[in-house]
Amino acid sequence: MAGREWFGDEERREVLDVLETGILFRYGHDAERQNHWKARDLEKEVEKFTGANYALAVSSGSTAVACALAASGIGYGDEVICTPFTFLATNEELIYSGAIPIFAEIDENLCLTAESIENAITPNTKAVLLVHMCGASADMDKIMAVCEKYNLLLIEDCGQALGAFYKGRSVGLFGTCGAFSFDFFKITTCGEGGLFITNVVSRYETAACYSDHGHTHQGSNRGMEPHPILGRNFRLGELNAAVGLAQMRKINDIRNRKKRNKALMVEVLETIPDISWRAYADIDGDSGTFVNFFLPSREITSAAVQQLRQDGVGGFDYWYENMYHFINQWDHLKNMKTPYKLPIHELGSSQDYINLQLPQSDQVLSRLISFGTKLAYSESDCVNFAEQIKSSILKVM
Ligand SMILES: Cc1ncc(COP(=O)(O)O)c(C=O)c1O
Repeated sequence: MAGREWFGDEERREVLDVLETGILFRYGHDAERQNHWKARDLEKEVEKFTGANYALAVSSGSTAVACALAASGIGYGDEVICTPFTFLATNEELIYSGAIPIFAEIDENLCLTAESIENAITPNTKAVLLVHMCGASADMDKIMAVCEKYNLLLIEDCGQALGAFYKGRSVGLFGTCGAFSFDFFKITTCGEGGLFITNVVSRYETAACYSDHGHTHQGSNRGMEPHPILGRNFRLGELNAAVGLAQMRKINDIRNRKKRNKALMVEVLETIPDISWRAYADIDGDSGTFVNFFLPSREITSAAVQQLRQDGVGGFDYWYENMYHFINQWDHLKNMKTPYKLPIHELGSSQDYINLQLPQSDQVLSRLISFGTKLAYSESDCVNFAEQIKSSILKVM
């Protein structure tokens, strides 16, 4: 799903701008930097693309999630409903914030369902940490209705979903705050980086302070700025920001190409008998980064995965068995292994993680195969690739 396939002169030019002045730091140094503000410009591009009032560039998608939790006031002992299907970063940040994760179920949309969120609510529930998985949105009307009914905060991890919209609105703007990843594998990348977004100025200010040791970024003497809160260093450097900026300026073209390439693959794959597709909440809002499909049973899916590997067909994820994206691979989480003591060790959880059964999520993921769409592929490359996939799968159907 990576924008890195389209690196070019645009990225090089932005990086050279930074190297010319040598100002690798995103704040201050106004006279020396000759008006090169890469992190700031990246934030403006993200605001323009998503429609967010405020964007903040940070060091990773993980730290963007940490900022979103902090800016939502999530911490010590707060119960937060979360997903068993995500890159671990989401739930790591949640646990390190001091909160208590409560897992609910996903369905064929690959995101938490409103129904399972409602079932997981206890008197102590404070928030939902929703992940828009694999490039497309969760079912937002239903999820918002539950959050409103029970007065729950909604925080959105859109680590894999920049370029995904629900009924015309970017993911990340439905709740308090959203977080995107710009790591090496994402639709737009800067190597390592992340973007926090929100529409609420006070949440933006908290995130901006928290991500930079409490600095307010007011005035012209950084050393003497007020520090209303203690913070961390989650700053993004200007070199990374420069690459992210060039990538962000291409995102509409990247998204369109991915959607075209995905459609070409789907046209071939849908002729496989009994294949079925991710249930989209809004298919037009899909970012096009993944082709997600289900085979009829766990046995057939597992055999298809082996056949694909045997035939040398790569570029896919079978999350059920690899990649550390599903709770069945998270023994360290279930046993709460951390280098130091956290609130959860003291407070415990109402959920028994070790014996937790999530049969619906298990059933969905055991039948799911996800191919990342390739940006650089021509139309015929896409068709040929899909034909290879189809031929391997047909051998086991
Ligand atoms: C859903 C999700 N959240 C968070 C992250 C963490 O992003 P990063 O690798 O930039 O820290 C990822 C990374 O893949 C992700 O997929």
